[in-house]
Amino acid sequence: MPVRKGVDAVERLLIEGGRRLEGEIRVQGAKNSALPCLAAAVVTGQTSVLTRCPCLRDTEAAMQILRHIGCETVRAGERVIVRSASPTRWDVPQSLMRRMRSSIIFLGALLSRFGRAELSAPGGCEIGLRPIDLHLSALSALGVQIETDCGKLICRAPNGLHGASITLSFPSVGATENILLCAVGADGKTVIRNAAREPEILDLAAFLNGCGAAIEGAGSDTITVTPTDGFRSYEHAVMPDRIAAATFMAAAAVTGGSVRLLDTAPEYLTPVLPFFEQTGCAVQISGADVLLRAPQRLQSARTVRTMPYPGFPTDFQASAMAMAAAAQGTSIFVETIFENRFKHVPELRRMGAKITVQNNVAVVEGVPRLCGASVQATDLRGGSALVTAALAAQGETSVCCIGHIDRGMEQFEHNLAKLGARIKRIDTDAE
Ligand code: UD1
Repeated sequence: MPVRKGVDAVERLLIEGGRRLEGEIRVQGAKNSALPCLAAAVVTGQTSVLTRCPCLRDTEAAMQILRHIGCETVRAGERVIVRSASPTRWDVPQSLMRRMRSSIIFLGALLSRFGRAELSAPGGCEIGLRPIDLHLSALSALGVQIETDCGKLICRAPNGLHGASITLSFPSVGATENILLCAVGADGKTVIRNAAREPEILDLAAFLNGCGAAIEGAGSDTITVTPTDGFRSYEHAVMPDRIAAATFMAAAAVTGGSVRLLDTAPEYLTPVLPFFEQTGCAVQISGADVLLRAPQRLQSARTVRTMPYPGFPTDFQASAMAMAAAAQGTSIFVETIFENRFKHVPELRRMGAKITVQNNVAVVEGVPRLCGASVQATDLRGGSALVTAALAAQGETSVCCIGHIDRGMEQFEHNLAKLGARIKRIDTDAE
């Protein structure tokens, strides 16, 4: 599987819209689960094997961090092996932190393993400020002393890590993961209240437990971590990517098509199913497969409000909006998780979408036909939404800055082409 070029690479996707998508695809492993699992491999000091580990710019960045620390990593297709018996460093340099905001997840893992960590602050990203205050205050409760020096976070646990009772003021996914990664290396019991309930937390806990940790309650809002007797080598299958699954459902839906997703986790799609049903799609679940059939023209949805799991996922808001842009009627989107997550709106407008935004509310008045245009991916999910809209549009759409999409969607254009889309990747340098 080819590793895609960087986010600044001069590549774009060309999409000839208006073709009905139909067929079946197997969904990739979840990016948001693979990343913390890769970080967790540092904690154990053993050999970890991740299967269904998607080959993405973000997972490759995580593997580069592992190599920098001194872990041995090998990828063979979807299988990644990490040997973490003798890492030599506990820092993540700025160049690697900049490649992926979620590198902050290595903070808890390095502290767990070494009792110290040095990272540059991840900074804001394209969808919002994304502070890490919840991560840091939770880690200090576990015994970590944190200093900042020229944008660098210098963290130490001089008296060792100890269990703590931590109540998060918001169920942050990343903070919950960092606490878990750190707490499995602490003495004494840790209880996390108001923990994030996202399925990826459950997957990380399943991996850590397989490695010998004792985590209970993951998937609920109270998680308990008790000290382990020791870690062991373990092989874990990364859960299917629920956001990628919903993205392919949206892609088929905007074209009035149908798609069967194979070997996915239908139970984790529950938060988005009412939306698909409101737009007139029929969704059938059979075992681990999901079949979506769309009407010729989608209907508007009722108000979509993004919420922590099991609410409607913010990561699917943009693609859902692309569907609403081409639907009959008016839909309303309220974004409650990130403050700057409507960056795809001006780009969708270039394609003829009628969307007005006031603060965190977008009102989408569906149009009979979107039209092809030259647009720019501004973030991963926004970029996927532009491709989704382009599939429904009349004429050709060119999406640039697709490095954002390559961060999280594996073989996106290949899978869409398999479903019948006319889509190709162009290297502008080579033109
Ligand atoms: C993770 C996902 C991302 C998803 C998001 C919400 C990964 C790699 N990324 O991101 O795809 O969109 O969950 O489902 O898993 N916040 C603070 N202080 C903190 C931490 C978070 O104010 O210390 C705020 C954030 O700015 C944001 C909200 O809490 O407004 C949610 O953030 P969080 O749940 O932490 O998301 P991430 O872990 O960054």
